[in-house]
Amino acid sequence: MTSLKDAAKSLHDGYIVAFPTETVYGLGADATNQKAVMRIFEIKNRPADHPLIVHINSIDQLGDWAINIPEYAYALAERYWPGPMTLILNRRSNAKDWITGGQDTVGIRIPNHEMALSLIEEFKKIGSGAIAAPSANKFGKVSPTSYQHVKEELSRDLSANDMILDGGNSSIGIESTIIDCTQSKPKILRPGFITNTMVEETTGLILSDSITNIRVSGSFKSHYAPKAKVLLDIEPQPGDGYIAQAEFETPANVIRLIAPKNVEEFAQNLYFAFRKADEKDLSRIVVKQPLGDNLALAIRDRLLKASNN
Ligand code: TXA
Ligand code: MG
Repeated sequence: MTSLKDAAKSLHDGYIVAFPTETVYGLGADATNQKAVMRIFEIKNRPADHPLIVHINSIDQLGDWAINIPEYAYALAERYWPGPMTLILNRRSNAKDWITGGQDTVGIRIPNHEMALSLIEEFKKIGSGAIAAPSANKFGKVSPTSYQHVKEELSRDLSANDMILDGGNSSIGIESTIIDCTQSKPKILRPGFITNTMVEETTGLILSDSITNIRVSGSFKSHYAPKAKVLLDIEPQPGDGYIAQAEFETPANVIRLIAPKNVEEFAQNLYFAFRKADEKDLSRIVVKQPLGDNLALAIRDRLLKASNN
C-alpha cells in the first residue's frame, strides 16, 4: 500500500490525490498550485468558474485562507470540526481566483477522516498543507462514497503519478453542510449532516434567509444525478429500482436497491444505491423520501436535484 508520505509527495509534486472523507471522496490537489488545481477541472469536466473547497487539518490554518472571520464562524469551527461542515469566508489573497471561481469568498473544511487528516499532516511537513478538492466524480454526477466508486469513474482520466487512496466507505455518505459566514448571521447554502438547529444553537444566532448571489454547484437545478431517471414518491412499477426505508415492503417485481433502517443509513447508502441502479442498467429509480427535518431534509435536497435530470 502507498504510504501517506508518498501521497503527500505526489500532492507536493503537483499530482492529483483522490482521498476519503467522512462525507464523500475528494479529488485533491495542492491548493497553492494552479496547474495542479486546473487538472481537477479537466478531470471532472467542471466549469472553471466553479469554486473548490480548501481542506485543512487545524483551525490555525484558517487565517492563511480567510480574513474578517466572524466570532460565530469560530464557534462553529471549534464545535464541529473536524466534521461534515464547510464554512464560506472572505478570502485572503492566498485563495486565488482559480480556487474561488473568481469570488471574494473561499470555502474551507476540516474533514473528519483519519486518513485525510494524516495526509494533510504529511503534506504540511513538505508543502502547503492545504488540499483543494471537489467531490471525486464527473461534474453533475453522483458523489463517490468508496475507493471503488472513484476508481470506476475517474481512473481512466488519472495519470500514473496520480493516486486514489482507499479509506473504506464514507460514514456520512452525503456532502458537507455549506454555511455562508460572510454576513452578520450564518446562512445555510447546502443542507447536510450539520443541521439548522445545530448551527443556531452553537452560534446563538437565527439563520439568515436572505437571498444570496453566492454560487454553489449543488444549487444547480440538476446535480448528484445517476443515469437512471429518479422519480420521487410514486408507486414503483415492475422493473423499477426502489429506495425506501426498511419498514416499506418491496412491491412485486421491483428491484429493491437499499432498505435503510433510519435516515443516517439512508444518507450513507443513497449514492451507493444510485450507482447500483446504473450498474444494473435500470431506467428508473423510484424513491420514497424520508420525512422530517435535519438529515432527512438534506437527503430530500439531493433527491430533488437528482430527479431533475
Ligand atoms: O463534503 C464535501 O463538501 C465534499 C468533500 C470532498 O469535502 N466536497 C464537495 O465538493 O462536495 P464539491 O466541489 O463537489 O461541492 C462543494 C460546493 C460546491 O457547490 C461549491 O460551489 C461550493 O462548495 N463552494 C466552494 N467554495 C465556495 C465559495 N467560495 N462560495 C460559495 N460556494 C462555494
Ligand atoms: Mg460535487
